[in-house]
Amino acid sequence: MRYLVLGSVNIDRTFSVDHIVSPGETIPSYGIADSAGGKGANQAAALGKAGLSVYFAGKLGSDGKWILDQLEEYGVNISKCIISQVSHTGQAIIQVDRSGQNSIILDAGGNMELDLAELNGILEDFQQGDMIILQNEINSIAEIIRMAKANGMRICMNPSPFDERISDYPLDLVDIFFVNEIEGRLMAGMDTIPCSDYEFRLLAHKLISKFPTAVFILTAGKNGAYYISSEKGLFYSPIIDYPVVDTTGAGDTFCGYMLASLESGAEPEDALIIASRASGIAVSRKGAMASIPTKDEVFRK
Ligand code: RIB
Repeated sequence: MRYLVLGSVNIDRTFSVDHIVSPGETIPSYGIADSAGGKGANQAAALGKAGLSVYFAGKLGSDGKWILDQLEEYGVNISKCIISQVSHTGQAIIQVDRSGQNSIILDAGGNMELDLAELNGILEDFQQGDMIILQNEINSIAEIIRMAKANGMRICMNPSPFDERISDYPLDLVDIFFVNEIEGRLMAGMDTIPCSDYEFRLLAHKLISKFPTAVFILTAGKNGAYYISSEKGLFYSPIIDYPVVDTTGAGDTFCGYMLASLESGAEPEDALIIASRASGIAVSRKGAMASIPTKDEVFRK
């Protein structure tokens, strides 16, 4: 069984700021750093650090080759990556405020330039039983889902960042979804963003009644995380408290560790706890990919 993350890779330029800038406002930064990111590359790094045998495939410019070196250090196979001769690597302009919250602007670069021949070349070696892990920062997601399903692959989808393209995706082919409360609410057609445990459970049930063959992992920020499937039912874990320094990449860390735990046979309840611990450690550190803990760090007492 092999795992393929087909997704974005970005150079994250992070500005540390007092507060997220408002319209018309100019504010100073008290720190700036370039680091490796992109939801796809971050999730591949999390799976690699969690000990899974994982491939990362994405398209980037030669300015981002150092990120591939970093992924290799985390045990990720990067042989399916494509270096564009014409485009630059995706860029993320990130503000992180004093409470660790972030705000992100993306310039897609190579991420949105995968062509059909390249996608065929990536997917042709994967087959029945392998899993593809997707986010929403690259082009041709609908085609990728159909191609992967035709290969017999299982499909894991984190529809983030959520945009209007998603209504055209064949989401009924997805086996595992990772959604936050906003994405989940939009997918379920719920009127308001859930706030209480009761409302999160209601949302989880709405999602599973809309997509009964899928597994949903619903992250609820400070309110914890939920797992629901028709087969196993509903499970919950509260967050595990760590001092918040930078929340960038916390969701990707959660995805990677949750998936790695479920795939290694952990029960949903235990997998939620492991993923919560991993993302708690990630928010206590700066950066996205670099903040993802290793397996040893997650399981250390
Ligand atoms: O999920 C965090 C990531 O979102 C950042 O690394 C940034 O590159 C954006 O893709």
